[in-house]
Amino acid sequence: MIELRDVTRRYGDGPPALRDVSLTIAAGEAVAILGPSGSGKSTLLNLVAGLDAPSAGSVSVAGVRVDTLSEAGSARYRRATIGMVFQFFNLLDDLTVADNVMLPAQLAGMSRGAAERRAAELLGTLGVDRHATAYPGRLSGGERQRVAVARALMNRPALLLADEPTGALDSASGEDVQRLLADLHADGQTIILVTHDTALANACATRTVRLADGRIAADTLAGAR
Ligand SMILES: Nc1ncnc2c1ncn2[C@@H]1O[C@H](COP(=O)(O)OP(=O)(O)OP(=O)(O)O)[C@@H](O)[C@H]1O
Ligand SMILES: [Mg+2]
Repeated sequence: MIELRDVTRRYGDGPPALRDVSLTIAAGEAVAILGPSGSGKSTLLNLVAGLDAPSAGSVSVAGVRVDTLSEAGSARYRRATIGMVFQFFNLLDDLTVADNVMLPAQLAGMSRGAAERRAAELLGTLGVDRHATAYPGRLSGGERQRVAVARALMNRPALLLADEPTGALDSASGEDVQRLLADLHADGQTIILVTHDTALANACATRTVRLADGRIAADTLAGAR
């Protein structure tokens, strides 16, 4: 479903953030990307999301050549195919929780009524429905991250990308998000998860890709370790 072929990403004159990375991920896999700070983890995720383009090589997701899309095409691709969760939630503080969650659906042209039903269902599943009319600023970090996951799932993305989703959370909230991602994977969601947290990787991922200096240093299936 996801194929990176000989991908290099250079910024300026420094050593490349990614060099000659080839990686294939099948539908239904949950892959954890591990590696030290600066090893290229976020760069890899941004290339898969079409937020950045490689200096060389190709990126294909669900049959789409992501690296050659126009800006509009790339936005359309993300709306249709990708859900993203970040370390610092990236919720809009002047929209209610429910409006934050509905936003991607409305951008994709879903009717208000259908979006409201889907948002209510997701917020219920994620255990934050009682905060639907609140503003994100009033929620705890763990609650905000569950709202961010609900927003990421709104358009039923084929691929969920998460960059350090527990990085800003205390351990109890981190475990909630961990359980949530593990449940999503059990339901068949394809996930790429960037993390420093090996407990999170072990709980949610069936495969671990370790980056070092922009290269794949190890690629291991769970249970094979
Ligand atoms: N926009 C940019 N301009 C210049 N250099 C960049 C840019 N983005 C990333 N880099 C460089 O590319 C390398 C990889 O960065 P990346 O953000 O992918 O690392 P990371 O593995 O996600 O690290 P962390 O764990 O700290 O988030 C780093 O050396 C970084 O400085
Ligand atoms: Mg990063």
